[in-house]
Amino acid sequence: MKVAVVGGTGSFGQAVAKRLVEAGIEVVIGSRDAARAREAAEPLGAEGAANEDAVAGADLVVLAVKSDAAVDTARELRGAIGSTPVLSPCAELSFGPSGVKPTPEATSIAERIQAELDAPVAAGLHSLAASNLAEAPADEDALICGDDAAAKELALELAGRLVSGSAVDCGPLASARALEGMTAVIVNVNKRYKAHAGLRVTGL
Ligand SMILES: NC(=O)c1ccc[n+]([C@@H]2O[C@H](COP(=O)([O-])OP(=O)(O)OC[C@H]3O[C@@H](n4cnc5c(N)ncnc54)[C@H](OP(=O)(O)O)[C@@H]3O)[C@@H](O)[C@H]2O)c1
Repeated sequence: MKVAVVGGTGSFGQAVAKRLVEAGIEVVIGSRDAARAREAAEPLGAEGAANEDAVAGADLVVLAVKSDAAVDTARELRGAIGSTPVLSPCAELSFGPSGVKPTPEATSIAERIQAELDAPVAAGLHSLAASNLAEAPADEDALICGDDAAAKELALELAGRLVSGSAVDCGPLASARALEGMTAVIVNVNKRYKAHAGLRVTGL
């Protein structure tokens, strides 16, 4: 499997890329700036390229860009991505005096990304903090959803390389609204308990 990590210069994309390279998967880091991509990729043993070149020839695209740029980035890369499956880990948060909340949009970022692309979109990995992936597979489960069975299988396979727990199929892409919202829950837990929380699904 060859994985393109668009926005792989950020902390989450770097952590994902590091785990995948160590699992023997070919990784291309994408950036709006090809030189920045190459600089970020070199220490990981990955390739680096401009986003539109990084997605060409990939089997799976991880859209690891800043969440408020994710839908626009998907629109800009529509032609370059073509029919290649996309995994969105993006979640929007709203910070206020009472804590962190999900944003009030009715549809998930992943569904909005799906509306921009010809490719099937899966969503997941939202509950994996970059810091929990830094040194080894994270000691937690990875939750994935999607409407396209083949894209979801690829995303589950990738997720399984990132965690020591299970890669869990959470149903259709509509589940992304809940998975994205769960990020706010985890950030609030981390603040309250000064923790690096992750999720485990019991009873499987
Ligand atoms: N951080 C975490 O622990 C974590 C955990 C789970 C999920 N996520 C999700 O993963 C995604 C990446 O998280 P992150 O913390 O790595 O984010 P980030 O550092 O804020 O941004 C990642 C990359 O996005 C690109 N970017 C920034 N602004 C952009 C714009 N206007 N247009 C296009 N690209 C832009 C940048 O790459 P270039 O400047 O090189 O193009 C940047 O390095 C987010 O959507 C987040 O919700 C994060």
